[in-house]
Amino acid sequence: MCGIVGYLGKNGAEKVILEGLKRLEYRGYDSSGIAMHSGSELKIAKFKGRLANLSDYLTENPGNSPVAIGHTRWATHGEPSDANSHPHFNTTKTIAVVHNGIIENYHSLKNELSEKGYTFSSETDTETIPHLIDSFYEGDLLSAVVKTVPLLRGSFAIAVVCADKKEIVAARKESPMVIGVGDNNDFFVASDVLAVLSYTKKFYYPENNDIIRITENGVEFFDASGSPVTRELKTVELSADAATKCGYDHFMLKEIYEQPDSCANTVSRYCSGDEIQLDFGSIKNMAAYDTIYIVACGTAYHAGLVGKLALEKYVKIPTTVDIASEFRYYAPFVNEKSLVILISQSGETADTLATLRNAKAAGATVLSITNVAGSTIARESDDVINTAAGPEIAVASTKAFTSQITALFLLAIYLGKQLGNISDEEYSFLMSELHLIPEKIREVLADMSSVKAAAKRIKKCNQLFYIGRGLDRVIAMEGALKLKEISYIYTEAFPAGEMKHGPIALIEPGTPAIALVTQESAAEKTISNIKELKARGAYVIAIANTSLEELRKTVDFVIEVPDAEGILAAIPAIIPCQSLAYYTSIYKGNDVDKPRNLAKSVTVE
Ligand code: M6R
Repeated sequence: MCGIVGYLGKNGAEKVILEGLKRLEYRGYDSSGIAMHSGSELKIAKFKGRLANLSDYLTENPGNSPVAIGHTRWATHGEPSDANSHPHFNTTKTIAVVHNGIIENYHSLKNELSEKGYTFSSETDTETIPHLIDSFYEGDLLSAVVKTVPLLRGSFAIAVVCADKKEIVAARKESPMVIGVGDNNDFFVASDVLAVLSYTKKFYYPENNDIIRITENGVEFFDASGSPVTRELKTVELSADAATKCGYDHFMLKEIYEQPDSCANTVSRYCSGDEIQLDFGSIKNMAAYDTIYIVACGTAYHAGLVGKLALEKYVKIPTTVDIASEFRYYAPFVNEKSLVILISQSGETADTLATLRNAKAAGATVLSITNVAGSTIARESDDVINTAAGPEIAVASTKAFTSQITALFLLAIYLGKQLGNISDEEYSFLMSELHLIPEKIREVLADMSSVKAAAKRIKKCNQLFYIGRGLDRVIAMEGALKLKEISYIYTEAFPAGEMKHGPIALIEPGTPAIALVTQESAAEKTISNIKELKARGAYVIAIANTSLEELRKTVDFVIEVPDAEGILAAIPAIIPCQSLAYYTSIYKGNDVDKPRNLAKSVTVE
């Protein structure tokens, strides 16, 4: 999604903005731009395409501005083009705005502004904002923004500069935004701390509907009516390295290899020895809940499907798993007896956030599992489990997924033990199995030769099927999502037993299929389904830890993974799926970390 970086200080705003936008590239974008304070005017440069275009411009037109705002745009209203790129400005180019999010009522605002004589030079919703601010501007940017914000419907984070003052005014509603404070009286606005982590670790996290004024005298916060409010300055513990590749070719590869640590760190964050310490403030009595609803999007949804299996086994409360963009509009039975578990790496996904608010309005208790402490979902939830995966930069989620499963496993056995569903002996066994996971991941990562061979085999195919039963089916779903996201091969996951009810019609001689076989109880049946595919000419790769002898006779080749207890088996098994997607994408020459059409943090509906 779009990225915002703003700077006020003496370090040369152009350099800070460009560096910050580079660090936000991972969010996905199709154009970029900057508005710089230059004497008593604003200079604006914006370009469709890669950030290199803006970088080239700034190299040819060097500057040392005291104030600037920059933006990477991920198109929503209007195609990627120079004109639709941000910043947008008023007719006289004295007010410039960068914006993340969507202005839902832009159409009616545009009509009203057009009737007043304002002309528009883009197809964006954003362009209404500088014109509205212009219509209220009488020399005080803050009060013009205070009058503008209530007229905007939707979600947004905006940063605004004007030609006659060295200041930035920012506002946020629903969309994330941080305000950084440097050591040399310099200040930053960003949609993500990673953008400016190399300059400061001190941040304010504005509340929803806050309006912020940054001048060389400091940062001031105002509520929606323009009255001053106080916000707390916090220090983040992330290192600036967290947002670099550390010698890996791609963020995705780095993040795949970080999984032994991200899982271990998630365990150690919530365990003292074998004792799980999830000291919830709101979830006190599980007997108060008759249903658990897990709600999430994409990869986090798949983690939820895995988590359901452990929650139903150990907590013994019926658990459903839904996609947030559906659930937010259809959840008729959520009430005060519901525990809603939201899973979100970013903690900012718009549909998941909407689910949170609906669930709370219906009286449910909300527990979130997020990877970004201080994210909107984390802040608004009743209780939170923060996975310790560290920043995930690659669009294709990897280490967040395995950390989410780790967190769900901890949650399930913690609650199961509290409820008396797990004996002390079983609990110790489950904890010892959990502690083995990092080593099992390392074992898979140590030899990628068969994954690379499989990637070479599938790189030219047009379609591919993943199959599995039970837990294996969920691993298959996540494997299929990874492959389609970055290799662009049409990939679908099916329950192995479902193929013969329709999808098997798509199998032709040579069609590749990947079968997950990690559950001994289902292996025999899955092997029968594999034989049905083989009989129709499919080329079958198995990712397996059981029935290996039989599989070697049946399939074209086997990628062996270590066995693990219960849902933990999903962790070593997903590693070859993630790596297969990575290498297939590399062999096809794709941009792994920035796959086409995708954004990292989906903050629009
Ligand atoms: O930040 P979230 O976990 O809420 O994001 C959810 C999905 O957008 C995300 O998992 C997406 O599907 C990834 N690109 C998957 O690799």
